[in-house]
Amino acid sequence: MKRKVSLFLSIIMVLVMVMSLTACGGGRSDDEGSATAEAGAGFEAGATVGVSLPWLGTQNWKEAEDQFKTELEAAGFKAIVQEADQKVPTQQQQIESMVQNGAKVLVVAPVDGSQLGSVLEDAKAAGVYVIGYDRLLENTDAVDAVVQFGSIQTGELQGQALLDGLAAEKGDGPYNIELFGGGPADPNAPNFFKGAMNVLQPKIDDGTLVVVSGQTEFTEAATLDWDNGKAQTRMDSLLAGNYSDKKIDGVLSPNDGIARAIITACEQAGQEIPVVSGLDAEDESVQWIVDGKQYSTVNKPTNELVAKTLKIIKLLQEGKDLPTPTATADNGKIEVPLYELTPQIVTKANVEEVFANDPAKAAIFK
Ligand code: BGC
Repeated sequence: MKRKVSLFLSIIMVLVMVMSLTACGGGRSDDEGSATAEAGAGFEAGATVGVSLPWLGTQNWKEAEDQFKTELEAAGFKAIVQEADQKVPTQQQQIESMVQNGAKVLVVAPVDGSQLGSVLEDAKAAGVYVIGYDRLLENTDAVDAVVQFGSIQTGELQGQALLDGLAAEKGDGPYNIELFGGGPADPNAPNFFKGAMNVLQPKIDDGTLVVVSGQTEFTEAATLDWDNGKAQTRMDSLLAGNYSDKKIDGVLSPNDGIARAIITACEQAGQEIPVVSGLDAEDESVQWIVDGKQYSTVNKPTNELVAKTLKIIKLLQEGKDLPTPTATADNGKIEVPLYELTPQIVTKANVEEVFANDPAKAAIFK
């Protein structure tokens, strides 16, 4: 009889444990392959939000640093905003300490998309929400959403701008071109390149475009750490090795800093400035577009990305459902819900119109 009672009690205890675990787990979706984050219990208003940025080497990250501080505090949160100077261990430590300091949400733009799995999994185990910002978080299920401008679409705009610019400025083809990619650890960089090649590859195949160096693979074209100096060195040697008796007509560049490095190398080699694409609408490149030195950039306004991220943070805080994502991305482990914004091409033809109401760019147009 005593054994029967204790067996009965044990079964009841197991049932109670299972029920309470299920209730706890309702706060977020842990299902592999789940496309939408579920509503959770929320967390206290005024909680801490940690923002981990990869570096401050391009204008967009400096803007993100400033805007996250201001906007999070304006929304009543406590903000810890840090940048990792392109170093994976630094970023891992910063994220760990944000969690130790009570962050309820982490906003993360990784130095290396695939190197944060274990710190993010620890954060998730501590009940922290994780939002990828501008870049995908790879090989982990510890990510609730990613907010970014469409990365393949960005590359397609860059490739199309290069083609359009060549037709507009360099007469009839075939055109001599070179290809540059961004930092190989950044999950955006291969996507930008892939998008550009969607447009350029058919024109390479039909002979309209000639990549004189023959370097058409992302691994050959990539620029370690998005380092402008390294891009300039590569451009110097491409010109010295392949263009002593040839004109270079165009260069695919993954962002504005690298575009300016490429243009500088061409000027120093005595080349006429080629058609060069870009990204970020940095102030200096917008000025170069106005001056006719850089052909194009892609505008992906930081304030829109920060505002979208803030909306998601507020929904998580209130314990509400996130909206249906605009897309999902296979990050190697799960289908991550993506909230994608639309990037916009900028050339001399529309530059003034695009930035007409942007106070930060006003000085360029006066
Ligand atoms: C961002 C770009 C930036 C680059 C280098 C990319 O992930 O999307 O805006 O230029 O990183 O910082």
